[in-house]
Amino acid sequence: MALIEGFRVQNYRALRDVTVGKLSSQQGGAPLTPFTVVIGKNGVGKSTLFDAFGFVADCLTHDVEQACDMKQRGGFERLRSRGTTDPIRFEIYYREAKGERPMTYELSIALDETGRPFVESEVLKQRRKGQSYGRPYPFLRLTHGKGMVWAGEEAVEVEGVEEDRAQASVELTDLRQLGIATLGTLKEHPRIKRFRDFLKGWYLSYFYPDAARGLPSAGPQKHLNIHGDNIGNVVQFMEQRENTERFKLILSRIAAKIPGVKSIDTRVTDDKRVLLRFNDGAFADPFFAQQMSDGTLKVFAYLLLMEDPEPPPFICIEEPENGLYHKLLETLAHEFRAHANGKKNAPQIFVTTHQPYFVDALSPDEVWILEKGSDGYSVIRRVSDLEIVKNLVDEGLPLGGLWYSDYLEAS
Ligand SMILES: Nc1ncnc2c1ncn2[C@@H]1O[C@H](COP(=O)(O)OP(=O)(O)OP(=O)(O)O)[C@@H](O)[C@H]1O
Ligand SMILES: [Mg+2]
Repeated sequence: MALIEGFRVQNYRALRDVTVGKLSSQQGGAPLTPFTVVIGKNGVGKSTLFDAFGFVADCLTHDVEQACDMKQRGGFERLRSRGTTDPIRFEIYYREAKGERPMTYELSIALDETGRPFVESEVLKQRRKGQSYGRPYPFLRLTHGKGMVWAGEEAVEVEGVEEDRAQASVELTDLRQLGIATLGTLKEHPRIKRFRDFLKGWYLSYFYPDAARGLPSAGPQKHLNIHGDNIGNVVQFMEQRENTERFKLILSRIAAKIPGVKSIDTRVTDDKRVLLRFNDGAFADPFFAQQMSDGTLKVFAYLLLMEDPEPPPFICIEEPENGLYHKLLETLAHEFRAHANGKKNAPQIFVTTHQPYFVDALSPDEVWILEKGSDGYSVIRRVSDLEIVKNLVDEGLPLGGLWYSDYLEAS
């Protein structure tokens, strides 16, 4: 499974310079766990970190200017950390699978002379084949849309080698588009293609219960969308295309985890829509999704997302706790962890939360605490680096309880 081992954000709102996990330049850090959770008080930068992932994904899907101008962001000047004129930068340190050489993607976005954001530089690099230590070498290097790219699976920039058949110079026509967006469509650049596909596959959840209550027009769909308003279509897909027995099993597994739900099944209407029916055991007739509570629909959506046979490689969820009963939170945390550490194509899951009950289910290396420094910029620490907390957890104290009792905060 693909794993983001580290992520660095610079000059993005309150994240002046924040790193989670391991980078090629910071090999001392431990890689991110498949399930990673960020906690912290109001206003410390949790949503900003969540949005930093979303921003990088939007830069690829749209372009850097559109990504900056999206409604929740309000333009480059608002996004750039106050008090600096440096570019906004991101670094992703990632491994396609266990045992593969890690890859680093660096992206720098600045303002051009007309005041519009553009891609200042972009680098993809990797160690040479057979090297498990030492510095990585670029196989894509672009500055202001111009640079070099190395084709195939192996070639990288090697100093002193003038003639390299894999090497080609490139010049982009649109400085607001990422180079990986175009080069990643070319057959001769399989590594760029795989990275681009990985980034394209990121799933940032913006689920809201009412979306799941709509009655979308019929038509099976394979994957749940970010708002969850195609939940009926996904169920329809599973009902029609998947093995029926497997689908029933999934529904009963999900039902067992939602309190007050005895069973879930489906009914196909005359116009071939699939209605989700929840049976609570108390009434003879089941309830339809439209009548179900917010929390039930939310848990159902998350669990269905987890059951996707081809899940997104990377899933981000902000505050999954909203509207959920506290005991369900621990179950949900365990579910996320089990899926993130599960089968071969398991998703990596990144969650922000306020909820100690959710954190109770976690281990110190899975949790990062964001705080606001005295200079107004965010600081992040991994809870496993707090010796006292680690010892208390080893003694059996639940992590959320320790957070609640202020053991995790520096200030
Ligand atoms: N350009 C900027 N430069 C520096 N700081 C900024 C900038 N834009 C916003 N901020 C700060 O970032 C913080 C917002 O952080 P964010 O919304 O990520 O917090 P949060 O941890 O999600 O909080 P909550 O728990 O309330 O949702 C605010 O405190 C704001 O002061
Ligand atoms: Mg927030």
